[in-house]
Amino acid sequence: MCNYFRVKMSGWTIPQDWERYSAEEHAVWDTLFARQSRMLEGRTTQAFLRGMDVLRLSRPGIPNFAELSERLMELTGWQVVAVPGLVPDEVFFEHLANRRFVAGRFIRKPEQLDYLQEPDVFHDLFGHVPLLSDPVFADYMQAYGKGGLRAVKFGALEKLARLYWYTVEFGLIRESGGLKLYGAGIVSSFGESLFALDDPSPNRIVFNLERVMRTRYRIDDYQQSYFVIDDFEDLRHQTADTDFAPLYLRLEMLDDIAPDAVLPEDVLIHRGNQARAKD
Ligand code: PHE
Ligand code: FE
Repeated sequence: MCNYFRVKMSGWTIPQDWERYSAEEHAVWDTLFARQSRMLEGRTTQAFLRGMDVLRLSRPGIPNFAELSERLMELTGWQVVAVPGLVPDEVFFEHLANRRFVAGRFIRKPEQLDYLQEPDVFHDLFGHVPLLSDPVFADYMQAYGKGGLRAVKFGALEKLARLYWYTVEFGLIRESGGLKLYGAGIVSSFGESLFALDDPSPNRIVFNLERVMRTRYRIDDYQQSYFVIDDFEDLRHQTADTDFAPLYLRLEMLDDIAPDAVLPEDVLIHRGNQARAKD
């Protein structure tokens, strides 16, 4: 059997080959981990902080997926599996629907600490794994996988992908009277973890499902708008416990919204001055 076929049969998963990381690669993880943990102090949701314990494994360096999965499995029944890079949408959804989180196994080079195009093992583990230990968020992620398979049939993938983007990757949450971070794309980024909470540039808007699914997003810079949820229960209620079929139909008739737009019906927490985009 050719290798391509073997990878495909296994849902594109490959062994992590943990023994093959070099000392330099482990050191990159340790540097990023220390720097980012310090940066996030007081800035993330409590659920993320609690979940960080899952990542504190028996030794420093890049976590071993098997050891990580063992811990997660006990807490919420999730596993982490390695993939070679981006996988087809259906494969991704199928894994999520079965409580498997797919992660890249490579780590960025020492000269790429601040910026990277593709998600590496630091983004995938540090950013995503802590919240997979939260029971409500863990259920949301699984339901999203099932919802993804359904969205394919409705031709609504682009809309559903925006929900993932503005929650799982770039979500903010209201907590103890202020805003906190929970999106993986923010918490794994040194620059954006400051920008998303403190900078006057971006909009911060109360989460509204239909609004989010209409909003385009940027992949080349920090976000111009962030959406704020009240708590994970509410997010799950508005998504997992809601039938999206009527929504998908309605969305076909509505225009997309630009990443920096503010609408009259938005509930604004902060109106961004968009200074960053004007630079
Ligand atoms: N409930 C959605 C549907 O009917 C699926 C979904 C679940 C989407 C959870 C996002 C998160 O398609
Ligand atoms: Fe991610």
